[in-house]
Amino acid sequence: MAQVSGMSDVPDMGRRQFMNLLTFGTITGTALGALYPVVKYFIPPSSGGTGGGVVAKDALGNDIKVSDYLSKHIAGDRSLAQGIKGDPTYIIITDDHQIANYGLNAVCTHLGCVVPWNVSENKFICPCHGSQYDSTGKVVRGPAPLSLALVNTSITEDDKLVFSVWTDTDFRTGKEPWWT
Ligand code: FES
Repeated sequence: MAQVSGMSDVPDMGRRQFMNLLTFGTITGTALGALYPVVKYFIPPSSGGTGGGVVAKDALGNDIKVSDYLSKHIAGDRSLAQGIKGDPTYIIITDDHQIANYGLNAVCTHLGCVVPWNVSENKFICPCHGSQYDSTGKVVRGPAPLSLALVNTSITEDDKLVFSVWTDTDFRTGKEPWWT
């Protein structure tokens, strides 16, 4: 009996190899995991890069081309596109018919409904609990506690619209951005 129990304490070859593999895999996986940020740091962004942003997409998931978009939207227009992390994001057309240098995340800062643009009121009015935001997304009536989040807009060399995180001061409030 003692021999049998002693034998069972010694892993046979198959089990030992398996345990070695497991240990090796764990160490390798941990090492690769630790190296990932270092390796990523040294790899330049892909060519035609969006500078850390995402290309804005239309409702069908196609990249938005600025010249094409402007030909279909009038000055003052505020229409939705897919933005960072897929969030619904307003593209704003300025009075001189350009893409504004900021877009607006359409997610209400109260409880997360998507806030539609109301042309006649010149405001974003949330259908859920009535919060209102002015044409720049600044909250003007609660219960929403905060203005709509800003995003940066830029245009690539091949005419695509890019959204990236707005990290500057919020020009509507003069405060640091609450969404970063
Ligand atoms: Fe917009 Fe409540 S979710 S007001």
